[in-house]
Amino acid sequence: AHLRPVEQSQAQGVLRQATAMSSPSKAKVAVLGAGGGIGQPLAMLMKMNPLVAELSLYDVVGTPGVAADLAHIDTAAKVTCATGPEELSKALYGCNLVIIPAGVPRKPGMTRDDLFNINAGIVQGLCEGIAKYCPKAWVAIISNPVNSTVPIAAEVFKKAGMYDPRKLMGVTKLDVCRAQAFWAELADTIPSKVDVPVVGGHAGVTILPLLSQATPKVDLSKDKAKALMERIQNAGTEVVNAKAGKGSATLSMAYAAAEFGNSCLRAMAGEANITECAYVDSHVTDLPYFATKLTLGADGVKDVGNLGRLNELETEGLEGLKAELRGSIQKGIDFVASGK
Ligand code: NAD
Ligand code: LMR
Repeated sequence: AHLRPVEQSQAQGVLRQATAMSSPSKAKVAVLGAGGGIGQPLAMLMKMNPLVAELSLYDVVGTPGVAADLAHIDTAAKVTCATGPEELSKALYGCNLVIIPAGVPRKPGMTRDDLFNINAGIVQGLCEGIAKYCPKAWVAIISNPVNSTVPIAAEVFKKAGMYDPRKLMGVTKLDVCRAQAFWAELADTIPSKVDVPVVGGHAGVTILPLLSQATPKVDLSKDKAKALMERIQNAGTEVVNAKAGKGSATLSMAYAAAEFGNSCLRAMAGEANITECAYVDSHVTDLPYFATKLTLGADGVKDVGNLGRLNELETEGLEGLKAELRGSIQKGIDFVASGK
């Protein structure tokens, strides 16, 4: 039977609530940096997610406005709000998933590593809070430089004696979104029919799209593949330059993080075969952290996929990224060891 629009929207509302209620995971999800360019749209998308029971918004400034605004959206997730370090415990207590977009973004001419001096301390402080108040939570780090901030988080967690490598992930999903958006254009199809693995890290040449493994197949000359690889590697800079001093990708990042967060919540709720690319503690290469395709299970990362067959261009790319990625990882480890 066809429903009239009002009945239809009522039915959808019931369905939304039923999905949330029947879900085995009544998750509390925190967004740290919720007042920012990524934080606000990400918080909105998480407010719309039926797997979220409580959406905990935390920032050092501006959180009450964002929380009041989002609380008027009639979806099931309850919005709570905390501002400043003295309220961090409240924001984190009982969290299942913590997503961190806190920190400064790039301006034209900067590298992600130029953000290290400010963002390293921010991520360290927030992770110390996670270790104390929600040590079992899954942690998804967006703050740049991701290549270093994930090792920083791991070192903080190791010091606190609660490090679980399965639950710490650097969010590299935006690289996959970009690669898939560009590949869909090339393949003349819609992005939902496209799969492009992106491995390595999340900065310049450390971003390694595996175009030879992309589906659907498109025959590309080596020059064309190289040009597309470079466009994906420089896509963040493309946005930074287009925003001309007003920051970096926020909307596409919020979308990517919300999709990634949704995968985490679905896996946490017991759904099988959820795959994502993310930057994690890894034995796939000789680097201690590396992004690859992985399978999520109820307790976090379940299987880290191997690299598969690389073509000549990708093999060169892999060898070429190792020194930079190794240096960024060590910089994060040294930062925590230095006790700054
Ligand atoms: P923004 O400046 O708009 O927002 C950052 C927010 O963090 C601000 O609201 C600020 O008040 C808050 N903040 C600062 N210190 C904090 C602390 N100690 N605790 C909690 N909140 C704190 O920046 P943005 O555009 O949202 O970008 C945030 C970060 O995400 C940047 O480091 C950026 O480089 C990174 N980023 C990563 C990716 C990725 O693919 N991983 C993509 C885009 C941006
Ligand atoms: C991105 O890839 O868009 C982010 O890492 C932000 C940036 O600085 O490019």
